[in-house]
Amino acid sequence: MRTVPVALGARSYEVRIESGLLGRAAEQLAPFVRKRPFVIVTDANVAPHGERLAANLAAAGIASETIILPPGEGTKSWTQLESLLDRLLDLGIERGDHVIALGGGVIGDLVGFASAILKRGCNFVQIPTTLLAQVDSSVGGKTAINARAGKNLVGAFHQPSVVLIDPDLLDTLPLREQRAGYAEVVKYGLIDDADFFAWCEGNGAALLAGDPNAREYAIAHSVGAKARIVADDERETTGRRALLNLGHTFGHALEAETGFSDQLLHGEGVAAGMALAFAFSARQGLCPATDAERVAAHLKASGLPHDLASAGIATSGARLVEHMLHDKKMDAGTLPFLLTRGIGATYLDKQVNLADVETFLDELPR
Ligand code: GLY
Repeated sequence: MRTVPVALGARSYEVRIESGLLGRAAEQLAPFVRKRPFVIVTDANVAPHGERLAANLAAAGIASETIILPPGEGTKSWTQLESLLDRLLDLGIERGDHVIALGGGVIGDLVGFASAILKRGCNFVQIPTTLLAQVDSSVGGKTAINARAGKNLVGAFHQPSVVLIDPDLLDTLPLREQRAGYAEVVKYGLIDDADFFAWCEGNGAALLAGDPNAREYAIAHSVGAKARIVADDERETTGRRALLNLGHTFGHALEAETGFSDQLLHGEGVAAGMALAFAFSARQGLCPATDAERVAAHLKASGLPHDLASAGIATSGARLVEHMLHDKKMDAGTLPFLLTRGIGATYLDKQVNLADVETFLDELPR
């Protein structure tokens, strides 16, 4: 088993990664057993994983109850939050109990937020079932639901007690979702690890084809990178954690333009957004054009959107910049951008002129 520590003082925990781990979850969860049955919260798409988990716990003499929610982004809502909290309260969950979030980013975010506020905070465990959740959203304690004004606008930092990652769960994940999660893997190379980006260029295809060694290595490497950043800047106050938002400002505008629909999955928006952040940096003379071309070429080879046309966006630069102004990363009326001096050299730039961004976007082929 690969174990990655997330060093946060009293809130420290481990991310444990091993093929087949779901089938051995009882060993991992036994230390958290208390009087009440565990509550597993999952969605209808991954309910079979929930059944396996419940069976594994039962075989070890550990009781559990399962709550199955509807799949999809719509579940990160006030309505579902209220209903989940009421069900957890009906089950008598206490602050010392652990709720188990078994699913992708939606389940992790909703259950994490419910755990953050239930009785002013109870414990929870993340068992992520998508590549995106395994390499990003299950680690670091960001939890949220969506509000009328936008995505993830109501939430809390609340760290899990442990994250259990079974890469075999990706066997049943649709290829499109694997690719979307892979964008977040590539992101770690682009932020500050040019060698890892080169590894992605050489091994990304094998990873997406299900090669277990490539998968496990990429997940552990990504989680290790994220754990270091989160340990440095848990609440995104120094700018270090903001590096994890590479591609997210451009990507947010593209996602907003599609109404946050399935036309562009979050990871696909991030992929196109990273390519645009590199292309914009190159246009501003900050980064070699060859690096921007290399990034776009790898995303394209991985079956991901890598420019406006491949993201299916034909709208004007002005409209995309308008979407950016509703980004939750707005700070004192300015929008910080993640720009780059090259592959592995991302930095936070608070001086970006939005007129330049608009012109750049208008000049791109549609
Ligand atoms: N997904 C970005 C972060 O966790 O900070």
